Amino acid sequence: MKFSSGFISRTQEISDLFENTFATSEGPEEGALIADFVRNLMSGSAKEDLYCFTALEGPEIVGGIFLSRLTYAQEDRQVFILSPVAVTPAWQGKGVGQQLISFGLSELRQNGIDFVTTYGDPAFYSRVGFRQISEEFAQAPLALSQPEGWLGQSLTANSMDPISGPCTCVPALNNPDLW
Ligand SMILES: CC(C)(COP(=O)(O)OP(=O)(O)OC[C@H]1O[C@@H](n2cnc3c(N)ncnc32)[C@H](O)[C@@H]1OP(=O)(O)O)[C@@H](O)C(=O)NCCC(=O)NCCS
Repeated sequence: MKFSSGFISRTQEISDLFENTFATSEGPEEGALIADFVRNLMSGSAKEDLYCFTALEGPEIVGGIFLSRLTYAQEDRQVFILSPVAVTPAWQGKGVGQQLISFGLSELRQNGIDFVTTYGDPAFYSRVGFRQISEEFAQAPLALSQPEGWLGQSLTANSMDPISGPCTCVPALNNPDLW
């Protein structure tokens, strides 16, 4: 298994991976919603506001993750959000998701990113360093329908100091259906 950075020239395969993975686990509507989200991330985000990492088995993309910028205007720290994450059904449960997320976080750390949030199942994301955070600790860009899924981790040696003020997300995430 190899891990790679970027999506240029493989946008269709990546959106298919997300569509098939989420359609299998949560039904076709969710598959279509997430595929749309991923296409909007790739086509509508500024280069410096988006990272994509993939897991490759030979030539095949078997996993993918995106991290996009959350802008906290009152903060010097650089904050990104991990979303979405997919591992193709045939490769689930073999450690690919955790290895891919760890790879991505280490790349962000090397690029000077200070803090990463995500929004999902604490039981899974706690395996790769995320802890539950409150909206007092760090505001979310849109209303959270499941506040218990709001998670974060510091990528620096600094303690988990609260993150000040409101934030905005990239256009693709500015969709209440995703929150
Ligand atoms: C969630 C997902 C990315 C995990 O990737 P993966 O490669 O299967 O995960 P890993 O093999 O690294 O880790 C597997 C472990 O995490 C657990 N796990 C996987 N998905 C989980 C979930 N949604 N909630 C809680 N635990 C989960 C598994 O039970 C397994 O535990 P075990 O080792 O004790 O059996 C993948 O299963 C997936 O794409 N699922 C469908 C889409 C999705 O739900 N994406 C996440 C929301 S954005």
